[in-house]
Amino acid sequence: MVRLKSWRFGLTAALLGLALMCPVVASAAEAVDEQPSFTKDIAPIFRDKCEACHRPGYIAPMSLQTYAEVRPWARSIKQRVESRQMPPWHIDKAVGVQSFKNDRSMTDAEIETVVRWVDNGAPQGNPSDLPPAAVFADDDVWNYADFFGGPPDVVIHSTPYTMPALAQDHWWKPEVSTGLTEDRWIRGIEIRPTTVPGRRITHHALARLQQEEEDEALGAASDIGPGLLMEWAVGKQGEIMRPNSGKLIKAGSSIVWDIHYHAVGEQITDTVELGLYLYPKGEEPKFRQVLAAFSTFEGGREALSILPNQVTVTEAFHVMKQNGRIENFQPHLHLRGRGMQMEAILPDGERRVLSLVSKFDFNWHNNYVYADDAAPLLPKGTVLAFKAWYDNTAGLRGNPDPNQWVGWGDRTVDEMGHAWVNVTYLDDADFEAATAERAATLETATDEE
Ligand code: HEC
Repeated sequence: MVRLKSWRFGLTAALLGLALMCPVVASAAEAVDEQPSFTKDIAPIFRDKCEACHRPGYIAPMSLQTYAEVRPWARSIKQRVESRQMPPWHIDKAVGVQSFKNDRSMTDAEIETVVRWVDNGAPQGNPSDLPPAAVFADDDVWNYADFFGGPPDVVIHSTPYTMPALAQDHWWKPEVSTGLTEDRWIRGIEIRPTTVPGRRITHHALARLQQEEEDEALGAASDIGPGLLMEWAVGKQGEIMRPNSGKLIKAGSSIVWDIHYHAVGEQITDTVELGLYLYPKGEEPKFRQVLAAFSTFEGGREALSILPNQVTVTEAFHVMKQNGRIENFQPHLHLRGRGMQMEAILPDGERRVLSLVSKFDFNWHNNYVYADDAAPLLPKGTVLAFKAWYDNTAGLRGNPDPNQWVGWGDRTVDEMGHAWVNVTYLDDADFEAATAERAATLETATDEE
């Protein structure tokens, strides 16, 4: 309690309070079995945290469903799990908001169990301890259909593209009409390569919404503005809007795709599909959400200059012209990208790191979606300060050539630097109400402890 009261803003308390109260304490107290076995201790963890990807036909290189499949990988598993590279969730645990809607990381106790199991020789244990097989959603099923009580109201496909077996990366940018004849509000979005083989060649996909916009203010603090609807990358499936929030999609609009394919040694043809769940006709959510691409370097594309054989740090500052709730953080960098930080400098000068990814891994364009009671509420006048750094040295695993100068570009061997951030803008009254509600939630949460 004292901790919370000593802060001036409910919102800053929200940012740090949650980080401090969170399950770290609880999990450290969880007992870790002295002699963990695969069947009793490891399989339940893998069902929960690994198999979504590590099963036949999915994006991971090997299945981790049975003891026979897992055993040869024991040492590699220990290494990846201990360093928190797997499951892919690369947000730093020691700083910033730690409460997310889509957290797939392991608890400290789970990691300790896996490490101890491997150190003890990775024993199988009693087969009768094995938990029931995990049940996964069918691939032909839209993942949010259960949540919304039916499939998406609108599905838009990119036009088919054939990626040769061997080629450099390709970009495919078809424009497709949404077919909408009236304005509607989006409450959920799913986007995915249409087939499982398609997942292997689709590096990432952007769906940009093309429509007439009158509301200039929406573009505030963003470099791309209201036009970007959704981005898909490995490990990201979609987005459900918070209650009473939505994205506006207008009659006569179209989707401009920007799909990045890479070759995998086999010719594959595929499309990407965008599923939109709409609010019922005539129902208009109060809050409009806008996806911004906040640049992490100043001076425009030509200004990004990454010298050979050194680490380059860039910074950029964006003033929020309207109060807003920051819904997520998704760093976007290419092969030499090493880290990104999003910080809020509040109007009274107080600085709060919201999120930090210091071991960025280009394979994983993770989207970190803040939990409802943790999404930062920031008053207008807040400066969002971004920092990104690039490691163009031989020390960076996967650096294609540390002797090259690198500038801005589409190819993965070029660089970029921005954060995809959904912002819900709030007027003063709604902002005050939201901050008050947040403070009350936190009071209750601490009282209950
Ligand atoms: C979201 C999907 C996903 C989840 C969840 C996931 N993995 Fe992975 N894993 C991958 C992919 C894709 C790769 C290959 C690319 C890479 O290394 O990043 C990989 C690579 C690995 C490797 C290295 C394989 C090699 O070739 O050396 C290990 C070990 C591993 N994962 C273990 C795990 C374990 C253990 C878990 C759960 C605790 C887990 N992974 C969860 C997708 C996933």
